[in-house]
Amino acid sequence: MTTTATMTATATAPAYTYTPIPPSPQADAAAFTDFGREVHGFDAASVSQAQYDEIIESLYKYQVLLFRNTTITPAQQYALTHAFDPAATSYGHGNNKTGKDTKSILHPDLKTIPHQPEVQLIGNGKVPGVYEGLDSPQLKHPHHRTFHKHPISEAEELASNATRFYRWHIDAALYKLSPPRVTSLLAVKVPQGPWQTVRYDDGSGDEVEVPKGSTVFASGKTMFDLLPAPLKSLAVRTTVNYAPHPYVWMSKAHALPTGLGIEDEGLELSLDELPEFDEAQVKHLPMCWKNPVTGALHLQVHPCAAKSLTIAPLPEGASRDGALYPDGGEVGDLKEVRELLTRVQRPGISPKYLFAADWREGDLVLFHNRGVIHSVTGAFRPDELRMFHQCNLAASSDPVGPDGADVAKYA
Ligand SMILES: [Fe+2]
Repeated sequence: MTTTATMTATATAPAYTYTPIPPSPQADAAAFTDFGREVHGFDAASVSQAQYDEIIESLYKYQVLLFRNTTITPAQQYALTHAFDPAATSYGHGNNKTGKDTKSILHPDLKTIPHQPEVQLIGNGKVPGVYEGLDSPQLKHPHHRTFHKHPISEAEELASNATRFYRWHIDAALYKLSPPRVTSLLAVKVPQGPWQTVRYDDGSGDEVEVPKGSTVFASGKTMFDLLPAPLKSLAVRTTVNYAPHPYVWMSKAHALPTGLGIEDEGLELSLDELPEFDEAQVKHLPMCWKNPVTGALHLQVHPCAAKSLTIAPLPEGASRDGALYPDGGEVGDLKEVRELLTRVQRPGISPKYLFAADWREGDLVLFHNRGVIHSVTGAFRPDELRMFHQCNLAASSDPVGPDGADVAKYA
């Protein structure tokens, strides 16, 4: 247990102790030396500013922090999440905004806790009675069948316990609001069941065993570090232009079997079918986001929401040998955009690089939303009750891309 005494005994002594996160069976240990930590000694009822500072620094260092057996109220969860960005004022998609925007594909998945509107109740099944001010909320775990172009059939799903990554993403509105720095997820009710096999079904033969309903995380740093030099050069020169109201824009589209982006079917809404938008609020974000503590580059793209890419030319003096788009350019063809994104992102979601959360009730996970991408997996019967509290805040500023030194090093 953390004590103030520990803090005061030595000003620099850490308040908490840290151990590696429980490794997923398929994980390559080398990819997890600085990815993921379990934190011991956290008491949500009394967190000093120094302790907040330590948690913030640890999260930026390790990307995912797991606190087990946590008791934390929605107000305390908000306070912890808010500590990462004291100037942030609303939920990541705007307070109650997803509820009103019925065309958005996020609409059915979130129930706002009325007394703490930055915290959402998510999960599966019908919650009995009044819960945190919500009257018998009906929750629904997203099933890949509702989103993927070629889902696993129900018969096959039952026979083999196979499933998919529902949708790889960053928690972000990607229009008007800035991507949250951190998301906190508290497991309140977790039905147990046999592990499930996530199939990639992209011709690779890849599959990964995950706990039922696992949330799966892939490090954006690993994703960048894995790339060969020409793709690193491309990544540090590229700006991703997101669609206006991206979740409405993609509302009729279907996902690839990996959940890492969209099938090219031309089903995106045209701009005049979208709700009114202001060009100035459309998001143009670097492909790589710079970690504010380590300075590392994290390849951070929401592949479903990307509409076009703007690529800067190679800097003066850089070798053009094998370079992609050496003179830069605009990539506006969605098929080409998506093929490029798959090239840079797919290696980073290979089974050995994934952390698959094995949720237990009382688990609190903080993840660096600007340093990892994540996906829901699995399937639940309608009567299986699963409850999580999720909190993130639209950030007070956009993420920062590669600096001059990064461009000089990688471009
Ligand atoms: Fe999410």
